[in-house]
Amino acid sequence: LREKLKDSAKRESGIRHVHVIGAGTMGGDIAAWCAARGLRVTLADLDHEIIAKAIGRAAEFYDKKLHSSIERRDALDRLIPDFEGAGVAKADLVIEAVVEKADVKRKVFDGIAPKMKEDAILATNTSSIPLEVLREGLAFPDRLVGLHFFNPVAKMELVEVVAHDQASQATLDRVHGFCGAIDRLPAAVKSAPGFLVNRALTPYLTEAFVMIDEGTPKETIDRAAEDFGMPMGPIELADRVGLDIGLDVVRMLKNNLDDPIPEIPAWLEKKVETGETGRKAGKGLYAYDDKGKPKRA
Ligand code: NAI
Repeated sequence: LREKLKDSAKRESGIRHVHVIGAGTMGGDIAAWCAARGLRVTLADLDHEIIAKAIGRAAEFYDKKLHSSIERRDALDRLIPDFEGAGVAKADLVIEAVVEKADVKRKVFDGIAPKMKEDAILATNTSSIPLEVLREGLAFPDRLVGLHFFNPVAKMELVEVVAHDQASQATLDRVHGFCGAIDRLPAAVKSAPGFLVNRALTPYLTEAFVMIDEGTPKETIDRAAEDFGMPMGPIELADRVGLDIGLDVVRMLKNNLDDPIPEIPAWLEKKVETGETGRKAGKGLYAYDDKGKPKRA
């Protein structure tokens, strides 16, 4: 992945100015991160106080993480509060990070699309809404892409770059290049409910909620998951994400996936029957070398 990142970083993304809409948990931190990585950033929100809070949070982050006062000053200079939303007309990349509601996001798109530069890319930080839903009515679906950062932005290196069948290759290449330029690891995923990480993660979180209802204390669940090796238990993680955002994601998956627990695939039963049981057998979903390392493409 690191090698892929280096390659993509070399590709010229042509992105120098990023406009972020929605200065909450994610938008504020995405903006702060991009400015720290040398990009000019304008940050907009309906609520001006939230922009001010995000800038304050960025200043604290820079104080802790950037080495010199010059670096700190330069990063803050690059992070511009945009109360009128004027930055959208100058940006090479617009990142939408408003609430997880398709109708709200589409309204935001309607408002900004006519103002964007002709070659600017529109990215959405949606956690779960398929791009096919969000692109409805958009005049330039070829320049729409999902750019799904994770929380907390400064710690989580992975970013899902979400493609859909109308996104142009040039758009995807530029966005992969952008991820490299801001020191993040892009994972190319296809548009689908929950994309990749949330599709796998959400059932894990909701099973933990069911266990609470069945009488297992939340501390026990979190401690067990952490002892198992997770950096944070599912209950604390749900709180970190925000229960409102989490509920929107669960609803989206529940309404758009056929079955919360999918059918057992026939190939799984066959693999077990034929002894391809995983690492211990030298072959499961992956093939394993002599040292027990999976041979991954
Ligand atoms: P949040 O509730 O902290 O922030 C949303 C912000 O959008 C608020 O400040 C609100 O004032 C602003 N807003 C709402 N409508 C607006 C409009 N029409 N124009 C401009 N600003 C508007 O939400 P959060 O957690 O930052 O989530 C934002 C997006 O990021 C959602 O799509 C969410 O699914 C996604 N996301 C959230 C993660 C999390 O852990 N919270 C992780 C990854 C993605």
